[in-house]
Amino acid sequence: MNKVESGLSILGFGCMRLPVTKDGNIDENQATDMLRYAIDHGVNYVDTAYPYHNGESEPFVGRALQGEYRKRVNLATKLPSWLIKSRADMDCYLDEQLKRLQTDHIDFYLVHGLMKPFWENLSTLGVTDFLDSAIADGRIKYAGFSFHDELALFKEIVDAYDWTFCQIQYNFMDEQHQAGTEGLRYAADHGLGIVIMEPLRGGMLTRDIPSINNIWKKAPVRRSLPEWALRWVWNHPEVTVVLSGMSSFEQVKQNVGYAKSGLPNSLSQEELSLFKEVEVEYNKRIKIPCTGCRYCMPCPSNVSIPECFEMYNQGCMFEAPDAASLQYDFALSGFLTGSPGFASQCQECGECEEKCPQGIPIREYLKKVAAYFGK
Ligand SMILES: NC(=O)c1ccc[n+]([C@@H]2O[C@H](COP(=O)([O-])OP(=O)(O)OC[C@H]3O[C@@H](n4cnc5c(N)ncnc54)[C@H](OP(=O)(O)O)[C@@H]3O)[C@@H](O)[C@H]2O)c1
Repeated sequence: MNKVESGLSILGFGCMRLPVTKDGNIDENQATDMLRYAIDHGVNYVDTAYPYHNGESEPFVGRALQGEYRKRVNLATKLPSWLIKSRADMDCYLDEQLKRLQTDHIDFYLVHGLMKPFWENLSTLGVTDFLDSAIADGRIKYAGFSFHDELALFKEIVDAYDWTFCQIQYNFMDEQHQAGTEGLRYAADHGLGIVIMEPLRGGMLTRDIPSINNIWKKAPVRRSLPEWALRWVWNHPEVTVVLSGMSSFEQVKQNVGYAKSGLPNSLSQEELSLFKEVEVEYNKRIKIPCTGCRYCMPCPSNVSIPECFEMYNQGCMFEAPDAASLQYDFALSGFLTGSPGFASQCQECGECEEKCPQGIPIREYLKKVAAYFGK
């Protein structure tokens, strides 16, 4: 039995990609209208986090939900794992978040973006004790975690505490990535509610590519690319809520509409086989045959070689250089690890090429990556 009470909407509002003004700030009027429209049309799960929009997402959500709206939603936010240096920090951040969100409790509180070093640090500092006490004193209702690492660690974390729910990246191109399908089933078997992030791979699965469109033309019904991708996630009975980071009013209206028919086990075998064709077609567009084995690492110049190749391949696969560039800037900036890993840092020592089992001319490809992303 699922530990999350039913009654959550299958579409959740992700507040990481809100519309912004020319100066990069949240377009508060438009974003408020979008959020309230979604709530007025049945969305009752709102997800934000401490760092989104340079720290402005939580205060925005607090203002936008004032009055009746707060009572109509389940509010989710996250402990910023990478900032925690002591057990006391955990209480400080949660208390600050309650103020930012203008609320006396968080319904769904997650330990944010768990990766091995954060999990080890937080476990040592007593994060489970913190969660127990925050539940006991009513500051949070349910405890969960969001995850960005390998499957084995995912299972270890699921087993380590009585979580109510977890949040994983999942879409039809990520079945084998991070927690993936095996992690989804593992968490569901352990009774966790499952919230999905990046169902459209941050928007990459929505780009018009003629060879992909030709596959979807064979389907018995016409659907847009985002509708196909969202429907694929909703097709899984293990999934509780699918978060979408909608960045325009049109997208909110569309996704609220798609959610009406996004039922588990509602796709036919014929439709599911088209997803496999689409996956093969995307994979044909991979430019660098890197398997992510990491034999090339560590790099003396600190270049995150596998990640550079992954972001470049994604930009090419999905014809989404803009979305790939955002991820490249974020993932390789050193925001989480403390040291940047951009392709342009390569000093061409060639140590990596001696170790690469695929014989990839890494130095040449890193130049292409640096030119593609501008750094
Ligand atoms: N906990 C974590 O570590 C973590 C990490 C990532 C995300 N999240 C949460 O999960 C939420 C969802 O992830 P995500 O924002 O990456 O979701 P996503 O749905 O994969 O990507 C959102 C993007 O998809 C595009 N899109 C959405 N609806 C569309 C439509 N109807 N038509 C065309 N394009 C559409 C938009 O891209 P364009 O703007 O380019 O059109 C939008 O910005 C986030 O907002 C955040 O709340 C959490």
